[in-house]
Amino acid sequence: MQLKRYKDYKTLSMQAAAEIAAMIKTKPEAVVCLASGDTPRLAYTLLPEIAAKEGVDFTRSVFIGLDEWVGVPPENEGSCSFFLQNTVFKPLNIPAGQIHLFNALSANLAGECTKMDKIIFEKGGIDLMIVGVGMNGHIGFNEPGVSSDKYSHVINLDNTTRAVGQKYFKQPILLKQGITLGLKHLLEAKKVILMANGIKKAGVIKKAVEEEVNNNMPASIMQNHPGGIIMIDEEAASLLSSKHQ
Ligand code: F6R
Repeated sequence: MQLKRYKDYKTLSMQAAAEIAAMIKTKPEAVVCLASGDTPRLAYTLLPEIAAKEGVDFTRSVFIGLDEWVGVPPENEGSCSFFLQNTVFKPLNIPAGQIHLFNALSANLAGECTKMDKIIFEKGGIDLMIVGVGMNGHIGFNEPGVSSDKYSHVINLDNTTRAVGQKYFKQPILLKQGITLGLKHLLEAKKVILMANGIKKAGVIKKAVEEEVNNNMPASIMQNHPGGIIMIDEEAASLLSSKHQ
């Protein structure tokens, strides 16, 4: 794993957008898995311009949504689907056939997981994953305590995720479960970029980077990924010990 620091959120976001563009430029049929959330928002907003400058061809790339709130429809502004459709896919004119998102309204969520895993395997695995990190150290909805041996699964959300998740919604909402790619997908992805910015993520970044890899801090799994890059701004890096400064 590499740790890369940037002076501010904008610089970090430009670099992350450049990584997405470079991946698809090098491999137009790349399978790219994207998180939603506040962290990657600016990178996604910058992507169309950077990609246009680089002449990136998106007509063959495959996009996978990292996760979704169970029971929340894609029309709801707080859903991961709504976010990705409006922040990434519409601005880039990606047709529906190239986009794979969990249907979190399905009566057969286990079937949704199997379907997603099959798509990923059939496409030859994930080339690039862009993920954030939760205040409890989760990646996707891989909550503290989760096994790193899981592919897609449904999981009960912990209290931090239920509370912090309210920020995406206009009205208070009961968030109970998530459907998510698993840490095994992350470990098998060729390249994983974990982004974090702002002072509020400094504590969790310190734990993810400096603690031994452990289930209670899912983001620490990044340490085991040879193609893993933790990209952070100075604020998120501010609690790292001198060894990482
Ligand atoms: C969202 C996701 C979550 C977020 C994490 C950080 O698809 O997978 O794990 O990446 O909760 O959220 P933000 O970026 O809003 O701080």
